[in-house]
Amino acid sequence: MCGPEGRDVMGDWLPVTSTTAAHRGVRPHPGEPLDPDAAISVRGLVKRYGAATAVDGLDLDIRRGEIFALLGPNGAGKTTTVEICEGYRNRDAGEVRVLGEDPASAGRRWKAQLGIVLQSGAGDSQLTVRELVRAQASYYPDARDADEVLELVGLTEKARARGRTLSGGQRRRLDVALGIVGRPALLFLDEPTTGFDPEARRQFWSLIRSLRDDLGTTMLLTTHYLDEAEALADRVGVIARGRLAEVAVPSALGGRGSAPAVVTWREDGVRRERATATPTALVRELAERFGGEVPELAVARPTLEDVYLRMIGKRPEAADDAGARDEREDPAW
Ligand SMILES: Nc1ncnc2c1ncn2[C@@H]1O[C@H](COP(=O)(O)OP(=O)(O)OP(=O)(O)O)[C@@H](O)[C@H]1O
Ligand SMILES: [Mg+2]
Repeated sequence: MCGPEGRDVMGDWLPVTSTTAAHRGVRPHPGEPLDPDAAISVRGLVKRYGAATAVDGLDLDIRRGEIFALLGPNGAGKTTTVEICEGYRNRDAGEVRVLGEDPASAGRRWKAQLGIVLQSGAGDSQLTVRELVRAQASYYPDARDADEVLELVGLTEKARARGRTLSGGQRRRLDVALGIVGRPALLFLDEPTTGFDPEARRQFWSLIRSLRDDLGTTMLLTTHYLDEAEALADRVGVIARGRLAEVAVPSALGGRGSAPAVVTWREDGVRRERATATPTALVRELAERFGGEVPELAVARPTLEDVYLRMIGKRPEAADDAGARDEREDPAW
């Protein structure tokens, strides 16, 4: 039992309403020592709820300045993992270091370096949006100006509105404002854009990129939107049944980078399709055959969603065999 006791309570917390493995771009090996340079370093993390194991021996390093997206189906263990890193939940086994400290015992100075957007989000409030952001700012030594943050999340027009009167998407924007107002070195974002309209999601993406690029903020993000992971993440980790199935840059997940391309075109009134490792050669051959434009020509590679669904879809059969998880079911892959 390495886990601290009694950390599931939030009473001790700031009022948030709402040539290592990391550098190799992969998961650390089980038993590899904690990475002292990483923003987040986790080894053998286990969390049980009664007889159920929610996190089952998870190893992960997230480097400073990186945006890391944790993907996985409902109940996979994402929030549990994230909240253990935030110091919100205790653990049953394993080691965790976040900004060099154990979240189970770290103090207020450590907490003041974190920004947190919980999955559950802010509750109803009688305070105005501006008052809520100012109150949150007061807990941080170098907080941003509240109105500047409201502008960043697109809530300027709602600055005088009471928290409880906000729409679902506006409330989520407020959660993001509360998460970033303290100018955190490390920002946790648990499904931050749920309920956002498409424009708000794009604005949020550009805000997140600017936090990384201009301020060097490290971010651990969970999301069910694969396009969001692809747009934002330097690396993604797929978690299933409390274990990390794979860690990779989005373009390489599940062998995606080297997967055959699918070339489609129309010929003799029929839509034709061929998977090939050499699409350029096939397109050249088609161009010669047609003597110019190839009707309805398209070349596609598997999307992040394609590879993710494959990885998740085969989990039940492969759950007890770590080696099998890396195989691909479709021989064409
Ligand atoms: N406080 C709790 N008490 C008992 N079981 C819990 C508790 N919190 C989570 N669990 C269980 O642990 C497992 C992992 O839950 P977790 O919230 O970490 O999943 P998740 O990956 O964040 O899912 P989602 O995508 O739905 O947010 C689930 O089976 C869940 O029912
Ligand atoms: Mg969750």
